[in-house]
Amino acid sequence: MNLLEVERLNRTFGGQAALHDISFNVGKGQRLGIIGRSGAGKSTLLRCLSGLDRPQSGRILLEGEDMATVPEARLVLLRRRIGLVFQHFNLLTSRTVAANVALPLEIAGMPKGPRNKRVAELLDLVGLADHAAKYPAMLSGGQKQRVGIARALAAHPALLLCDEATSALDPETTEAILALLADINHVLGLTIVFITHEMDVVRRLGQQVLVLEKGRIVARGAPADILDANRLAAILPPDLSQTPHDGSHAIVRLTVAAQSVFAPLLHTLEQQCQARFTLLHTLPAADGDGRMDVVVRTNSLSVATMNALQAHACAAEVLGYVPPYS
Ligand SMILES: Nc1ncnc2c1ncn2[C@@H]1O[C@H](COP(=O)(O)OP(=O)(O)OP(=O)(O)O)[C@@H](O)[C@H]1O
Ligand SMILES: [Mg+2]
Repeated sequence: MNLLEVERLNRTFGGQAALHDISFNVGKGQRLGIIGRSGAGKSTLLRCLSGLDRPQSGRILLEGEDMATVPEARLVLLRRRIGLVFQHFNLLTSRTVAANVALPLEIAGMPKGPRNKRVAELLDLVGLADHAAKYPAMLSGGQKQRVGIARALAAHPALLLCDEATSALDPETTEAILALLADINHVLGLTIVFITHEMDVVRRLGQQVLVLEKGRIVARGAPADILDANRLAAILPPDLSQTPHDGSHAIVRLTVAAQSVFAPLLHTLEQQCQARFTLLHTLPAADGDGRMDVVVRTNSLSVATMNALQAHACAAEVLGYVPPYS
């Protein structure tokens, strides 16, 4: 059984669909990123997943129980299985760090002794053991988010939902918080679903990613593949087709060692292959490692040409075909 199963979720506001037929699963211990532009439906989806909002139709099975339809009293208990981390931390300013972390345990009726022990354990986990008696105003943004994460973990949730958890932080602090979340996932085996509008966050933390657009899932896969597809979509000709046609030219991606970009690569290929090559784009390869993607257009894609390309590049991939120059 998956920890979370979302089936055909629909949420509309005044006849406008904010979420349309959303389906996905999250296995126990997985890290799923949900990315999309402003207005794509990310927060609406997260509110449904956390039980703060109810969809018009569809199922949200958390550990097999449907949050979309359970009675309110049961939903209150189910929601304790979910930890929430917010963009703006949502800490109580009049409570100390320790008292903020203790809050969900107080609400759940945990006695003081075990509660204090649990809070100490959590502050240790997030690296704030020395800050227990401070108030939120005395903390940096990154430290405030650590308190937010400790509080979210207090009641041993099965699922951690993060809503733009690093969007209010600078790049270095973002790094540290993402590392902490990855660590928590690793050490506790905790399942994490996070939403963000930053591809970099998805790349750092996600094992899988869903791309939301206007309330629909438009792509899903490993972050590196999604990132790669996005980059290519931005540079490929709009009339690209997947099959060759009469006289068509091929668009090929060559992945080469960075220093090869400075060699007369296309000239050498032209001489070896009796084909013409036009350089379309050069960009750093998605997997880094100092490699470059060189996207070229060629008028002749014979077996001999493919062999020559493969001999000169680490990889050669046909991306599609375009009509010849008119
Ligand atoms: N309570 C509401 N009442 C009416 N419309 C809403 C409500 N909440 C969201 N919407 C609409 O649903 C759509 C999705 O909004 P949502 O807040 O989920 O987007 P988002 O992806 O979180 O955007 P952002 O990145 O800006 O936070 C938007 O068109 C929004 O106007
Ligand atoms: Mg939002």
